[in-house]
Amino acid sequence: MESRLQGRDFLSIADLDAATCESLLALAARQKRGEDPGRPLHGRTVAMIFLRPSNRTRVSFEVAIHRLGGHPVALFDREIEMGRRESVADVARILDRFVDGLVARIPSHRDLLGLAEHMRAPVINAMTDASHPCQVLADCLTLEEVTGRIAGARVAFIGDGNNVCHSWIEAAGLLGIALTVVTPRGYEPHPQVVDRGARLAPKGAPPVRVTDDLRLGVADADVVYTDVWTSMGQEGEHERRREDFGPYQVNAELLAQAPAHARVMHCLPAHRGEEITDEVLDGPRSVVFAQAENRLWVQQALLCAIFAGRDGRVQAGAGLPAPEGDGGARRAAPGPP
Ligand code: CP
Ligand code: NVA
Repeated sequence: MESRLQGRDFLSIADLDAATCESLLALAARQKRGEDPGRPLHGRTVAMIFLRPSNRTRVSFEVAIHRLGGHPVALFDREIEMGRRESVADVARILDRFVDGLVARIPSHRDLLGLAEHMRAPVINAMTDASHPCQVLADCLTLEEVTGRIAGARVAFIGDGNNVCHSWIEAAGLLGIALTVVTPRGYEPHPQVVDRGARLAPKGAPPVRVTDDLRLGVADADVVYTDVWTSMGQEGEHERRREDFGPYQVNAELLAQAPAHARVMHCLPAHRGEEITDEVLDGPRSVVFAQAENRLWVQQALLCAIFAGRDGRVQAGAGLPAPEGDGGARRAAPGPP
């Protein structure tokens, strides 16, 4: 069975159209309920480059690749030294001779595009400084589980307007999520990403709200979402960020301003006591651990969609429906950020 994603890169949420994204989430939900994904990666090897630390992303991808019959090869900065020992293009050209796919967590989105440019095998974005699409796909599955819907669900993203927030903005446009981004002044999402989110949205859809007003964000939220104030690579700015983001902590006082049904999500890892208190993270309204589990289901579905039919071993029903007239270029990702 063919899928729109078959053989393609997944570099950003903006690579997807709404129907493909919804099919992917539905596939993830079915597999979570027990549908057999088959073994689309049988006899295949997927390299994983991690130039930044990871728990959830690396383990969930490694487990998913293994469950689908494939073999993961994880490469870390200390051994691959991409851009220092060898150019990005050469790393890509070499890996392309050995493996059937690449999962890459690298700081530079430009380098991610460089890898994709020089590989024929599909490349999956496992987080850059500009976006974290696998995280937000999994978050959308969680959103559906906790609110019963995606389109029209109200999400307040409170925190830094960087990678995770950027992918939320794209998902909101694509899937019709009512997103309010609350950041301190100076930490707003990149305007190009906000424009892209608006372009992805159907005509007449309400735009993403970007504000520094916490009350506006949480007042009608179904989900209050937060991320760390100091992302990986920003450790030198930790003290300044603690000060700037101080009033934006997700704590019991803030949550009291949200509707009673509102749930709390966090991509994790959490910097407890900074962006979120223990009381909230471990409290009854937090769904963060179920949210983390969904990384596995969504990425397993994503791998099925990308590798469906590539070796004829995919079980019927495991892939996504092919769109009519799939004529798009294989590399449809927008440039940085
Ligand atoms: N949320 C997330 O991507 O976690 P890791 O950094 O542990 O992979
Ligand atoms: N914004 C965070 C996300 C971690 C999953 C970071 O880049 O470190």
